Amino acid sequence: MFIFKKTEDLRNFLQQKNNGTRDIGFVPTMGALHEGHLSLIRMSKSSNSLCICSIFVNPTQFNQAADLQKYPRTTSKDIALLAKVGCDVLFLPHESEIYPSDLDTKVEIAMNGLDTVMEGEFRPGHFAGVIQVVKRLLDITSPSHLYMGQKDFQQFSIIKHMIRTLDLPVNLVMAPTVRAENGLAKSSRNERLTAEQKEQAGIIYKTLSAAGDVLLRKSVDTIEADAIKTLSIPGFKPEYFDIVDGNTLQPVKDVLNTDWIVACTAVWAGDVRLIDNMILKDEG
Ligand code: PAF
Repeated sequence: MFIFKKTEDLRNFLQQKNNGTRDIGFVPTMGALHEGHLSLIRMSKSSNSLCICSIFVNPTQFNQAADLQKYPRTTSKDIALLAKVGCDVLFLPHESEIYPSDLDTKVEIAMNGLDTVMEGEFRPGHFAGVIQVVKRLLDITSPSHLYMGQKDFQQFSIIKHMIRTLDLPVNLVMAPTVRAENGLAKSSRNERLTAEQKEQAGIIYKTLSAAGDVLLRKSVDTIEADAIKTLSIPGFKPEYFDIVDGNTLQPVKDVLNTDWIVACTAVWAGDVRLIDNMILKDEG
């Protein structure tokens, strides 16, 4: 596996390697890699001749300095995992490569309300930071395919919107969420959970599944209120449980006349914030 820290070196490498053709899969990450990330790498490898992964803990998407500081950093372990799954290139930039002082990297597009609901309500500015870094990374790597996980459904929707709005020449691919045996979605943040919290956090998957079971029988308001109650076990504190239109991320008013319905939730387990979602209806 080739490792590049400098944008210019990576660009030179890609220019030589690529020879004008574009058959590159790209997986952006913030490191602390787990099975979810590795599944994205495998997906990328199966459809592209070159797979690039980036590891960059992006400061602009953290709205709390403490959260940025606490974010797990496990670079040596990550490099070993990437080499093991056959990733071709790792981009491991310093902040000055992503945000050089003489470059305006901000992305200013109308978000059509995608960024103000759910995560946007609790993490102001988060998605502005996400689109900023993803756009910059796409500019550097010029991939044909971009792989992102369903686990961050809102993030996926916002990146999809950015790609469309800016007409970026990249195909966005959604990879299914990888789960532990009890249903807990794999996440870098899980490293900070105790064994007991990990076990208890299976309640999140169960609650999402239960919402799907009653979608046609109960009102959306009732399902959401029941879910909040179920998730409020000792040590756990749900922030939201929203049933939304998968395209607009706005609340679903009419289940029968909405083609794509997704339940999204954020729950504090102690001081670790977990997010998850489930597609409850997909007839789009
Ligand atoms: O999902 C993540 O890990 C990050 O938000 C991403 C897409 C790598 C941007 O920093």
